[in-house]
Amino acid sequence: MEPTTFVLFGATGDLAKRKIYPALFNLFVDNKLPESFSLIGLGRRELSDEAFQANVEQSIHTFSRRKTNNPDLLKNFLRTFRYSVLDIDRKEDYQKLLKLIEQREEELRIVPNRMFYLSVGPEYFEKIAANIKESGLGTADGWKRLVIEKPFGHDLQSARDLNEQLSKAFAENEIYRIDHYLGKPMVQKLEVIQQSNPVLHAIWANNYIANVQITANETVGVEERAGYYDHVGAVRDMFQNHMLQLLMMLTMHLPNVSNSELVRFKKKKVMENLEPLLKQDVGANVIRGQYKEGSIGGKQVVGYTSEPGIASTSMNDTFIAAKLQIDDFFWRGVPIYIRTGKRMHEKSTRIVIEFKEPNTNLTQHHDESQVPNLLVFEISPNESITLQLNSKDPSKNGKYKPIQIDFHESQEDVPEAYENLIYDALQGDPTFFAHWDEVELAWAWVQPILDAFQENLVPLHHYAAGTNGPAESDALLAANGHHWWFDS
Ligand code: BG6
Repeated sequence: MEPTTFVLFGATGDLAKRKIYPALFNLFVDNKLPESFSLIGLGRRELSDEAFQANVEQSIHTFSRRKTNNPDLLKNFLRTFRYSVLDIDRKEDYQKLLKLIEQREEELRIVPNRMFYLSVGPEYFEKIAANIKESGLGTADGWKRLVIEKPFGHDLQSARDLNEQLSKAFAENEIYRIDHYLGKPMVQKLEVIQQSNPVLHAIWANNYIANVQITANETVGVEERAGYYDHVGAVRDMFQNHMLQLLMMLTMHLPNVSNSELVRFKKKKVMENLEPLLKQDVGANVIRGQYKEGSIGGKQVVGYTSEPGIASTSMNDTFIAAKLQIDDFFWRGVPIYIRTGKRMHEKSTRIVIEFKEPNTNLTQHHDESQVPNLLVFEISPNESITLQLNSKDPSKNGKYKPIQIDFHESQEDVPEAYENLIYDALQGDPTFFAHWDEVELAWAWVQPILDAFQENLVPLHHYAAGTNGPAESDALLAANGHHWWFDS
């Protein structure tokens, strides 16, 4: 891997502590960091290099999946970590940073490949990118990359504005937009599973598939993020990004040979073929929900509007379920149901593909034990793939009996999403990052939903915490003779 300087904005922040340092350490232990690697942490507060390294060490002890009882290993890892104070508005600080980077590149004799990781609020993205450009930080001989994390805008227009600003400093192929769902190991497997298994590839189409269900349920509520979440809601927080990315990864049709460009092209195609929703049709296809008080795992929890920091009149969505259609050769006519909610019955991200019922019945009469074939991808918290088939039960006069073929991935030593993504960004592999085209098309698709919610054209349904969401979400599927699988 090429020598790299990793410039981390927001080096004393929560994301850096919980995710980025542990991910870097795990990569280091696995020999997946460049041999010549230099990290420069940036933050507002004064900190010596030693104090910075001690903070990083602490975060690794607390959050890393790798054992940290080898002090030499840790020392080796931290040896190239430096810290510099940076006020994002102060031009002099960028000049100081440039000097420090150059000095480190010289000391370590590394070419100026620089990765700028913005682990800061999105309101700072434009300013930092512009200052990187203006200060000459990104004009050295090597490559430069910008890593940012959602939210990329608040709606279609603000996303476009943000992108326009960023693209003044970085070309599209230099921007790595993290959607951490794309780093989840099972999500990364989807393309291979579909593409390299003829038995699946052949039936990945509307002739065989009755419907697709994509769910990301959480048991947590708004947590300490009232200020952020009450402005955003489930559509912006989860649906526009994570959920639509899952949809793209699942439904794109790849040819035998693929590469990152093709994956992105095919994902874009999915979004282009997604039937647009008109504002007046949102009510018929989208269920908007908000949790009220209830009990989860035996624990009583308050309703959304009683959460600290949330106004008692808030109409914010903490749940959304939607019916989508992809208007292309493979998927035309297959309803795709997507839902995500907070304070749900269980934490689970899963995809269910329900196949059509076979036309023939071997016993010549209907056997009510017959089940549809289901292909189930559990994405998190555990990873598994299950195929439900019909078999016979010899002890019951040969009645049908559903059987499950299960594959469970061992949860030990599975790299975390951030490890996968940082590794890819260091290698310059953009496959599992969101391209601007996808982001823009996703905003364009959800914009009528945002407008309809804003104008209150769609009722807000309340659901008790600890349930599977509002009853209307079940009715959305029942209208087509379907139901959510695995709700309990
Ligand atoms: C984040 C959202 O992007 O994803 C959070 O902002 C949400 O609100 C989180 O809790 C869910 O991620 P995961 O990996 O726990 O499913």
